[in-house]
Amino acid sequence: MDFPFAEPYRIKTIETIKRTTREQRERIIREARFNLFNIRAEEVYVDLLTDSGTGAMSSAQWAEMMLGDESYAGASSYYKLRDSVREILGFEYFFPTHQGRAAENVLFSTLIGPGAEGRGKVVPGNAHFDTTKGHIEFRHAHAVDCTTAESLDPRSDYPFKGNVDLARLESVLKGQPRGSIPVCILTITCNSSGGQPVSMANIRAVSALCREHEVPLFIDAARFAENSYFIKKREAGYADRSVREIALETFSYADGCTMSSKKDGLVNIGGLLCFRSQELMNRAMPFNIMYEGFNTYGGMAGRDLGALSVGLREATELDYLESRIGQVAGLGRSLEGHGVPVLRPYGGHAIFVDAGAFLPRVPREEFVAQTLGVEVYREGGVRGVEIGALLADRDPDTRQNRFPPLELLRLAIPRRTYTNDHMDYVAAVLGSVYERRDRITRGYRITCEAPIMRHFTVALEPADKG
Ligand code: F0G
Repeated sequence: MDFPFAEPYRIKTIETIKRTTREQRERIIREARFNLFNIRAEEVYVDLLTDSGTGAMSSAQWAEMMLGDESYAGASSYYKLRDSVREILGFEYFFPTHQGRAAENVLFSTLIGPGAEGRGKVVPGNAHFDTTKGHIEFRHAHAVDCTTAESLDPRSDYPFKGNVDLARLESVLKGQPRGSIPVCILTITCNSSGGQPVSMANIRAVSALCREHEVPLFIDAARFAENSYFIKKREAGYADRSVREIALETFSYADGCTMSSKKDGLVNIGGLLCFRSQELMNRAMPFNIMYEGFNTYGGMAGRDLGALSVGLREATELDYLESRIGQVAGLGRSLEGHGVPVLRPYGGHAIFVDAGAFLPRVPREEFVAQTLGVEVYREGGVRGVEIGALLADRDPDTRQNRFPPLELLRLAIPRRTYTNDHMDYVAAVLGSVYERRDRITRGYRITCEAPIMRHFTVALEPADKG
């Protein structure tokens, strides 16, 4: 008999979370000017804002924290991390950075330039994450999204919706003047297209195209372990390969990677910038030292380097990934059981609710996914995050609002943090909003916004006010 799968860990420490009343939440969300980033975390019951840095560390990681070597240069914690990076990611050279976007800053400063040197340059990839796009556009270069068209159909069960459309990538590589493509970025899993994986065949083909056109390929490896797990489960020829073998093969096709270790590094803060070539690492070194810190700590405490060295190993264990991806899929199934439209297949780190299908009566100019996010908080103190027109921001040249093809509410699941009962609670809350969806017809308008990355700080008011 097959017994049900259960988590490969038990709980040693708990943290109390509190429920609020609907009246309290009405006040809280109004005072937050309808921006979920402005709510105090203690006023959230189940916090699915992000899976970034919100996971629980293991006792082995905490033990490593106590062994942290806080020497400025050459700390033993650095060497432990170096061993893990070489063993799990297969890169000889790397810098620690304080988080993923810091690695992006150092990389793009090296390959595009530290200021606005990017005019006329393009960085192709598969739906770049917003900080990646931010760093590219900040330098006046353009991020060109070459994600497969399959990713646009929320109901399609295509197994690798993070894939690059190879014909589109090739036309970008061929169509641009020589020297105008400093790097291609492949994000695994692809967060912006729904936590969807990229197949090994696609990674290999992207790498071959980049090589042919002499464009370096960097992987955004924030969720590389989840991507490797999906390859094992979904791609022919990989069922018998270990997650670690798959990860090593993945990185073997790239010239380097950036990584937010707050995801598949299973730590609360930190990042990595890895290189295959020592020459490129040397070019990046001054930026790393200026922006992050000396090469052997790069913005991280010794104890955090140590915890990451253990986290990279734990994140690539099959049992952990089974329970991780299984919990996310369980939430997807419960939501669908309540009738809630969600993106298929379920993502690795999150379930993406199809807010456009959920709230068809709210005009897109009134921020559909944000409207749903506010309603879900009001209903049950659950916090998700908008992946829609607020996040898509304005075109850097025309300053017009950009409207993405899908309005999504992301429910990102922190690693090893919530139980499946919490997931059932979340599904019931969304189910309850779904029952009253016909009465939600208006959204929000912006009263104040920052010139870049506006979603973090934007202030809103109800669109039917006044
Ligand atoms: N790349 C990807 C694919 C990401 O998802 C993130 C962060 C980053 C880079 C930047 O890393 O936050 O360590 O600086 N994603 C978080 C999220 C914020 O909620 O998806 P960071």
